[in-house]
Amino acid sequence: MDADRKSLDAPANGRNAEITSNLTAVPSTRRASDTPLMLQYQELKARYPKDLLFFRLGDFYELFDGDAKIAAPILEVALTHRQQIPMCGVPAHAVDPYAAKLLKAGFRVAIADQMEDPALAKGLVKRQIVRVLTPGTLQEDTLLPAKRCNFLAALAIQDGTFGLAAIECSTGEFVTTETSGAGADSRTWDEIVRLAPSEIVMTPSPQSTPWIEKLRKQGFCVTEADASDFAVPLAAERLKKQFGIQSLRGFGLEGKNVAQSAASAAVRYYESTQCGRPCSLQPPRTYTLDEFLQLDAGTLDHLDIVESGAPRPGSGPGSSTSRSARTLLDIMDDTLTPMGGRLLRRWIVAPLRSLETIRARQERVDFFLDQRDGRRHLRAALQGWPDMERILTRLASGTVSPRDLAHLTHGLKRTPQVKNFVQKALDQWQALRNASADSSESPGSGLAQLPKSLPEAPELSELLERAIVEAPPASLKDGGVIRDGYSAELDEVRSWIRDGKSRLLGLERREREQTGIGSLKVGFNNIFGYYIEVTKTHMAKVPANYIRKQTMANGERYITPELKEFETQLLGAEERALRLENALVTSLREAILKEAETLRRLSAAIAELDVFLSFAEVAERRGYVKPTLEDSSSFMIREGRHPVLENVLASGSLVPNDVHLDGRERQIVILTGPNMSGKSTYLRQTALIAILAQMGSYVPAAEARLGVLDHLFTRIGASDRLLEGESTFMVEMVETARILNHATPRSLVILDEVGRGTSTYDGMSIAWACIEYLHQAGPKVLFATHYLELTQLAGQLSGVCNAHVAAREWGDQVIFLHKVEPGPADRAYGIHVAKLAGVPKGVLERAAKLLRQFEQRQRSQETDPQPSLFDEEAGQTRAQNDTLTSGWGDELSQIDLNQITPMQALLKIQEWKNRVLQAKKEEDSL
Ligand SMILES: Nc1ncnc2c1ncn2[C@@H]1O[C@H](COP(=O)(O)OP(=O)(O)OP(=O)(O)O)[C@@H](O)[C@H]1O
Ligand SMILES: [Mg+2]
Repeated sequence: MDADRKSLDAPANGRNAEITSNLTAVPSTRRASDTPLMLQYQELKARYPKDLLFFRLGDFYELFDGDAKIAAPILEVALTHRQQIPMCGVPAHAVDPYAAKLLKAGFRVAIADQMEDPALAKGLVKRQIVRVLTPGTLQEDTLLPAKRCNFLAALAIQDGTFGLAAIECSTGEFVTTETSGAGADSRTWDEIVRLAPSEIVMTPSPQSTPWIEKLRKQGFCVTEADASDFAVPLAAERLKKQFGIQSLRGFGLEGKNVAQSAASAAVRYYESTQCGRPCSLQPPRTYTLDEFLQLDAGTLDHLDIVESGAPRPGSGPGSSTSRSARTLLDIMDDTLTPMGGRLLRRWIVAPLRSLETIRARQERVDFFLDQRDGRRHLRAALQGWPDMERILTRLASGTVSPRDLAHLTHGLKRTPQVKNFVQKALDQWQALRNASADSSESPGSGLAQLPKSLPEAPELSELLERAIVEAPPASLKDGGVIRDGYSAELDEVRSWIRDGKSRLLGLERREREQTGIGSLKVGFNNIFGYYIEVTKTHMAKVPANYIRKQTMANGERYITPELKEFETQLLGAEERALRLENALVTSLREAILKEAETLRRLSAAIAELDVFLSFAEVAERRGYVKPTLEDSSSFMIREGRHPVLENVLASGSLVPNDVHLDGRERQIVILTGPNMSGKSTYLRQTALIAILAQMGSYVPAAEARLGVLDHLFTRIGASDRLLEGESTFMVEMVETARILNHATPRSLVILDEVGRGTSTYDGMSIAWACIEYLHQAGPKVLFATHYLELTQLAGQLSGVCNAHVAAREWGDQVIFLHKVEPGPADRAYGIHVAKLAGVPKGVLERAAKLLRQFEQRQRSQETDPQPSLFDEEAGQTRAQNDTLTSGWGDELSQIDLNQITPMQALLKIQEWKNRVLQAKKEEDSL
């Protein structure tokens, strides 16, 4: 940085003369802002007023005026002034990390490049904005994490219908979905969180403005676009034109006006940032949210499935792998290729619902698990596989580097080998099955298709291998990209570059021999280039084809046609070589693009292969089993483990636990147990196992038999959204409401301590009522709570069971066994945990005393024959219930009105009144 700063402070050092002459050499009568250069700058800036303009000046990108003031502190470069104009700059060859800093800070960056060589330009160098960098439209490998998709999304909202489109600009993938009806808003929100777009394009309207605000509060980058970009009848026309088609039916977009509107807006925005560069886009694929196990936004967050939030520009390739494993993705990701990493990330947040598709995935995992050697070979072959998807996009937009071409070549060259390994493994598998005559395990059609799913492009592969050197330079400008022997013409030019000097000496020698002039010399000057010099003494021997050019004191200088031809070859050789290489690379690019579809399919197949190999690898290494998935409401896990905790704890210290739910006799399990015993862990691991299973992976358990779920709801932990103006309890209730409103008999609901964010009786009442409601609605429920009162529900509602996490007292210590056992917990051990946490002794003693008092009081109430706490229909508080009804209901029903005198009746009333007053007094003194 210091070096940068130094050079920035000294414009003459590295910065081109244009700026020096234009800014520092302004006559004092003229303002610096009036120079032609600054006028050019202002003209460009006026077109992108909201963006920071990087203005190319020689070897630097400069920012001026307000832009410079904003950017300098973020870029950590010096802010200087030339003729009162604030400016700062960054070296052009290393612009990406600087641009990334600004993108991260929420700015867009417009890049103005020099459109002609300053050395050849007459007057002011022509400049143009060639690209607008925005978080969602990046394609640069240096700015994007390799294993994360970087989505640009557009959201359209019309009368309660939500259209969402997402483009992965680095790969050209384009997806869209439309949702309407009940819950459309929250489902759309969940889908946005799942996609985690880096930028969302929206247009303000009464319906969308609250969304824009909410998205921004959640940290999403929302860019506002013109309403015309979303205009509906136009949208369909624009999309048809973009993809050169007559009907949108093929894309599944016909009739989906709101999705069309979003799709069209996304494309338009993407195009606007490319400044005329072609946008490499695949045809849109329309999907419905019902294809996937619904995971609401909260669930993704609560369960630590992937690290939350949009990818950060500049986080660079493969940046997520360095941290210690914290998320489910960290545990599951053993992929070797960037595409594989991206695919796994997408699968893990979008588990499937189709039994058939899940089973097809399982079959592949089985296969690779079984074929250990094949797996090893394949994984070795995939190591360092190029990111073909992104390379193809760069090819289409013309930003491909020679290194990309070399990577592509290596990948293509390895394809037959990969295919071969797959085929061999398949043959072996088949042979084993045949030998054991177990026809039930013959490979399904999916597996047999595996080798065919890897398309080859042998001609292209051969062509590239012949054409591209093994390790080319980063830029085409440096030359040396094309192999010797590929083009005769290039070889010839290169031989000139290599042998120019010796050829010159050869010519000199030949001329000496032919003329017999021993002192003849070939020389060079700037006026007429190469010449032959002959001294006066040998003048007579000069041949007739020598053309005299210059007379010297002691001799003459000549040129010959041969020498001039020689000169043209020699002097232009470097430039010609570059030109030729450029042309050759262009035609190679075209050849590759012709096969783009094949390469895309190959890339997709490699990504899948990589993910299945990773599933098999993880399953083997971590001892996972294949879950049996079925179309039922059963949910049984034997000896399930928490995949992330298992990785953190010392081996053998994790206690596995069973889950048994069936939607009937065991529909709801109320889980009690001391603090720190493992309730939340148990809940989370159950949810994670469900996700892994429906993604097609093996699971951390001894056995699992799971009915496919439609929706996984979780309400875990207390996450404040203070910024949104929602308190802990509000968040809890909003999420709970959503669960109650949407859970179906095929859903799994995980509730962790719902109701604890408010007063005990409030919380308990809410929890109680929620369970009653869910009991009616029918989803499978795991409910962890500290309200031991809730365990009474098991006796009252069929299908509600109790379980607890066992703990043992040992002296004044408590030992957590982490084992889930049937039946309710006996007590809470909260004070023991407080002690473990280092709460001062005095507080612990006082708490223990208070606890004893409360417990005594509770016991004395329990000995009274009274109805259970929550039998009351009316919403009276417990205190009122206790004091007012204690005993007198029974007494009243036992009184025989025919036997009692009016005096006795009055005395009875007096007695009751006294009891009520006494109870009230006690209540107040507590
Ligand atoms: N099955 C298990 N095997 C081993 N250790 C476990 C197990 N389950 C939980 N633990 C350990 O106990 C700690 C506490 O677990 P957890 O947060 O699930 O407890 P909890 O019952 O939900 O507590 P609280 O009531 O305070 O929320 C975990 O961080 C983990 O270290
Ligand atoms: Mg807990």
